[in-house]
Amino acid sequence: MDIHTHIPVLLNPFVDALCIDRDGHYVDTTFGRGGHARALLSRLSDKGRLLALDRDPQAIAEGERLAADDARFCIRHWSFADLGEALDEVGWCNINGIGFDLGVSSPQLDDASRGFAFGKDGPLDMRMDTSGGKTLAERLQHVGERELARILREYGDERYSGRIARAILRARDESKLMRTSELENVCFHAAPRQARYGRTHPATRTFQALRIWVNDEMGQLEAGIKGAMDRLASGGRLAVISFHSGEDRRVRDLIEARVHPCTCPPQFPVCVCGKTPDMRWVQKKPLRSSEDECNRNPRSRTARLRIAEKLQ
Ligand SMILES: C[S@@+](CC[C@H](N)C(=O)[O-])C[C@H]1O[C@@H](n2cnc3c(N)ncnc32)[C@H](O)[C@@H]1O
Repeated sequence: MDIHTHIPVLLNPFVDALCIDRDGHYVDTTFGRGGHARALLSRLSDKGRLLALDRDPQAIAEGERLAADDARFCIRHWSFADLGEALDEVGWCNINGIGFDLGVSSPQLDDASRGFAFGKDGPLDMRMDTSGGKTLAERLQHVGERELARILREYGDERYSGRIARAILRARDESKLMRTSELENVCFHAAPRQARYGRTHPATRTFQALRIWVNDEMGQLEAGIKGAMDRLASGGRLAVISFHSGEDRRVRDLIEARVHPCTCPPQFPVCVCGKTPDMRWVQKKPLRSSEDECNRNPRSRTARLRIAEKLQ
């Protein structure tokens, strides 16, 4: 695949969910290579506006080319965790739809120099924002075994988190861990023999977990989704595509806390906490990609789309 391409996942359901007013103001918080953004723009009138964000300077460069051609579109190098500040900067208040397409883009995964993927040798970097922050190699210098095992378990659902964490730190201490190929090799040999040749490579979950850690993806997600729900106009839509179960559960819980915010014990006959819903589910059970889409784009296999609407 050309390293500059990204096939947008769940394209029509995502755009259908968001785009409820042709003249509205929308935010694509994860521009990537602009597949969703271009489809959104194709549904907007001359009055409609789209702001896009991304943490990755390469995505911003691509977005700036689009902005030069389309006056309805602008892009900013902001994290979606700072959505409120980005909206204040452009002076927008009532947003009709905010979309998140979480995780990494194909160009990020396919570019070995970014260090996101195994099977391609590169430096241990994994930062989405290459303009700042600590690389994976730098973070690994200061992490302890228990903490690393927790990261692998929590963010990667890794069964062998303890043995893999121990092996990673041993390789680090022997200065044998500088490249993604070395990390892949450490994971392979740390996994028990029977787990080495299964359907998924033994390094898959570790790479996912370390990427989530390096980019503080769960913290960013929480701030981003809460910020989005705060800034939607009445009737405005939130659409979120996630790619692994931990991420999807967090998205569900963050929205659910606004759909059913009452904290009164169930035996209370009436609510006394006074917390009222300000969101409703449009699509609580996540939408999945069709078999056809999964065949055309294997990265869509784990995608889940949840949709909610602002009430007041
Ligand atoms: C799956 S890709 C999006 C692809 C895009 N929808 C398209 O059609 O081309 C995810 C993008 O989100 C960006 N990203 C991840 N976390 C982010 C964050 N906290 N703030 C802003 N962008 C983020 C990544 O850099 C990546 O470009």
